[in-house]
This record gives sequence, structure tokens and C-alpha cells, in this order.
Amino acid sequence: MITPDPRTACPSGGTPGIAQVESDDGLDLRVGQPAPALLPTDLVARHQAVALDRYGPAALAYGANAGPLPAREALAAWTAGAEDGHWTARDVFVTAGASHALALLCEELGTPDARVLVQRASYSVALDLFRRHRLRPLPVGADDCVPTAAELTASVRAARRAGERIAFAYLQPTFHNPTGRTWTTAQRQAVVEACADLGVTVVEDDPYREVHFGDRPPPSLAALGPLGPVIGVRTLSKVLAPGLRVGCVVGGAALRARLERAPLFASGGGMAHIGALTAASLLASPAFPAHLRHLRVAYRERRDALLGALAPAAGAGARWERPDGGFFVWLRLGGGVLADTVEKLSVRYGAQVLHGAPCRARLGDGRQAVRVSYSMHPVPALTTAGQALARAVTEASGRNPSR
Ligand SMILES: Cc1ncc(COP(=O)(O)O)c(C=O)c1O
Repeated sequence: MITPDPRTACPSGGTPGIAQVESDDGLDLRVGQPAPALLPTDLVARHQAVALDRYGPAALAYGANAGPLPAREALAAWTAGAEDGHWTARDVFVTAGASHALALLCEELGTPDARVLVQRASYSVALDLFRRHRLRPLPVGADDCVPTAAELTASVRAARRAGERIAFAYLQPTFHNPTGRTWTTAQRQAVVEACADLGVTVVEDDPYREVHFGDRPPPSLAALGPLGPVIGVRTLSKVLAPGLRVGCVVGGAALRARLERAPLFASGGGMAHIGALTAASLLASPAFPAHLRHLRVAYRERRDALLGALAPAAGAGARWERPDGGFFVWLRLGGGVLADTVEKLSVRYGAQVLHGAPCRARLGDGRQAVRVSYSMHPVPALTTAGQALARAVTEASGRNPSR
């Protein structure tokens, strides 16, 4: 077992019991969270002070159920600008991040045992969340990431013939977690049109759009379809700070009004009030686009470091795509190599990777893939971790890595 080099270790969150991922776990590539070093503490402190100064006690009162109006305006302007959308504050409901938005949509759109159409590979925690709400993920298509219109149609018709209800389709077309892939505009249009024809609501989760390393991605599904039939779930977790707990549902005025009346908000008010007011000030400041530019450079360097170090794994039959944004690389293992073996050998050499199985909607799938995140560690650590993983893959394939 290689002892992690303290110089390249992921900085800890500081005091134990504060952050979800507290300490450096060696070269842990399982977690797709923003790098601690890239969390803008100064910016958040400054804009929280602006919010308190500007709104006084109202900033600390129960917040408006749909989120404070300045935050809804700022989130609408930011998302519409980044996605080529045409919505306004009236279409936006502020949530405590994307996870909260997804839980709310499960409650609003779900009925017990209904199906949720998902990409064959998907965000593992969302799959768990659906199951927890008694919704059953239904993987669609032959490809891990991109379902075609024909595949969607066939799956929906077969499910309905079997008497099943479709609650919604949960899709991530941009820098997909776990594969890192991004759909073309034509693929997006085809899916939006197919779901409209089938009467299936689309829930689009798009947390990584602004973390792009080249051209900006194509318009979002929410921008291509009418809001309502297409619902956007957005978050500031990856581009500002997950601890702010600010995200939103972009789903049109009717959905916003429906969520606003829910007892949860009548009781507690908006769930991220001071965070949302802080975000409203921050999103409107020139510091936000500057921060995004900084993130893109930093995450791009991290991606390059990991992929550079992984290169020898190709000789052992592993395949991966170079993501143009986001936090993840999906490593498909060749020649009968199992994720179980790679997982164990990686630990022996000092790195940790996420087994492919939880990222697959169908039980038993994902035995020959692992997800690797390059977001949390600095470049030297990623180089060491990538080398450890490449060594593990090579050894698992029986090709005796040089020692
Ligand atoms: C696809 C996807 N959706 C949602 C989330 C969680 O977002 P939030 O922190 O806003 O709840 C993540 C974080 O890993 C993610 O990858």
C-alpha cells in the first residue's frame, strides 16, 4: 500500500464533523465534489454581508416560499443566459440544491411504483432517491448515455402496455455523471420531441454545464422544450459551493405556484433563504464570471493530469472518452477485467475509484466499469492516483505492470 504523500493530499475541510467528506482519504477519486481549494470563501463572505446589509432582518426571517425574488431573478438570468433559455423569475422556484429539487419532483410527479425513465448509466444517488420514493428506474436505450427517440418510444409503449405509469424521464444531457458525455443539439431535440409526443415529462439535471473546457455546450433540454413538459433542475453546488445549498427548479409558473403551496414551504418558508440572497448578490457581480473562468482552467488541468497518468491503462484494454467538461471519467474495462478487481488493486496502490454498479440502473450491470472523478485533488495527487489506477488495470488484465 502506498502511503499518501501529504504534499499532494486533498486538503481537509478543517474541523472534524463539519464537512461531509472530511479528510484526505489518500487518493480518493470516488467523490465528485468541488475541490476545497476552489471554494470561494471570500466571495461568499462578501456577498452574504451585502445581503444582510441590504435586507436587514428580512434576510433572517422565514423566506418567501418560492425563494426570495432577487434570487429567483438572478437564477433565472444566469440559467437562461447559459442555456439559451427564455424564462424569467416567475418560472423559477428556489431549492436547497439539486438533490432537494429532485426529492420535491418525486413527490409532485411520482405515484407509488411508477417508472422513471433513466439513461442506462446515471447519477447513483438520484437512482437511490427515486427508489426511496417508491419510483422504479427504467433504463432506456442501448447506449450508456444517449437514448434515441425510437428507444424511448419503444420503452414507454412497452411499460404502458404492461400497465405501468411513467412519472417522468430523468436525464443529464451535459457532462453526464458518470460518463462525462454531452449530447448534440440534434440528440436533444429528438428526445424532447419524443417525450412531448409520448406525454412524458422530462426532468433535466444539469449541474456541470458551466464547467466546460472548450466551447459552451448546446442549448439545454429546458431551453428546447416548453417549460412544464420539460423541467430544469439547476444548482450552484458545483460552480460556487455545495454548502450554500442553493439550486432551483426551472419549470414554469404553474409548477412554481404548485410548489409554493406545499405545506413544507408554508411551514418553513424558502429552504435556502440567506444562501439564496447571498447568491443573488454574487451572481449579479462581475466576480461570478471571473470565478467560472478560473474553475474551468483549474478543472481542465486536473482532467488532463488524470488522463495523462491513465494512458498506460489503454494498453490493458481499458477505454474512456475525454470529457469536455464536468468532473468525471468513465473507464470501461476490456478483456474480462472486472471492476471488483480494479477497485481492490487500486486501493492496494493507494487510489480509490467508484465501482460501476451503483451508476447503472439495472442490477448486475456495471461490473466492467469504474467512475473516476478528477475534481477534488490537485494536479500532483491526480497524477499519482492515475498512475496507481493504470497499474491496477494493467495488473488486473494480467499484463504485469513494471514495478
Ligand atoms: C448529476 C448530479 N445531480 C445532482 C447532484 C447534487 O447536487 P446538489 O449538491 O445541488 O444537491 C450531483 C452531485 O454530485 C450530480 O452529479
